[in-house]
Amino acid sequence: MATFTFVTLCAIFFIIIVFAVWHLASRRYSLPCPVWLRWMVELDNPFTRTNRAAFITEHLELAPGMTVLDAGCGPGRLTLPVARGVGSQGHVVAMDVQAGMLERAREKARLADLGNITFLQAALGDGQLPKNHFDRALLVTVLGEIPDRQAALKEILTALKPGGILSITEVIFDPHFQRRGTVTRLACGLGFREKAFYGNCIAYVLHFVKPKEI
Ligand SMILES: C[S@@+](CC[C@H](N)C(=O)[O-])C[C@H]1O[C@@H](n2cnc3c(N)ncnc32)[C@H](O)[C@@H]1O
Repeated sequence: MATFTFVTLCAIFFIIIVFAVWHLASRRYSLPCPVWLRWMVELDNPFTRTNRAAFITEHLELAPGMTVLDAGCGPGRLTLPVARGVGSQGHVVAMDVQAGMLERAREKARLADLGNITFLQAALGDGQLPKNHFDRALLVTVLGEIPDRQAALKEILTALKPGGILSITEVIFDPHFQRRGTVTRLACGLGFREKAFYGNCIAYVLHFVKPKEI
């Protein structure tokens, strides 16, 4: 029993160290969630309601014909329900920096027979998005993986239509977790206005609106 407790504590300690090092290193280097872990990203977290695809899409107030950006879409966990939400007249741009993630999302879209998604391999912050184009933008457990968060949010601000909404989800179980205060400071410093907050300090969805006068 003592050996079991010791091994369990060592394993927990090791995971905490890996999370901490990954978190700190991501401030300087691009260290995205590896493609071989995409199966884990595809699971809806059983411990946090706010990170579930159904919860996030429900609060996006999607309407048929809308154009949505899923930035850091990973294997398409959100991309597919959002594509269904905007209907065949709407459009989703699924963007990710890693080809392996996009491959999986593309395959899922093909199997689901969804033809209203464009896949874009690019790094958010590099300025490849069109201006004043999207009604909604999603950043679900992505922000902390981007070394230049300011450039990333600025690109989304420019890419959204005036009145468009940016939805950011953060969960503490993610090694790249960003605190609410940090996210709000960054977004509001660039010109976003906070619109809504769901959840609590360890798992939340934050909505920001691009003011009409920008
Ligand atoms: C933890 S996964 C989340 C995937 C998805 N949003 C979800 O919640 O299921 C983070 C994703 O962000 C992508 N990513 C990291 N940095 C990025 C960047 N600068 N631009 C675009 N995607 C990025 C990673 O490749 C990875 O697929």
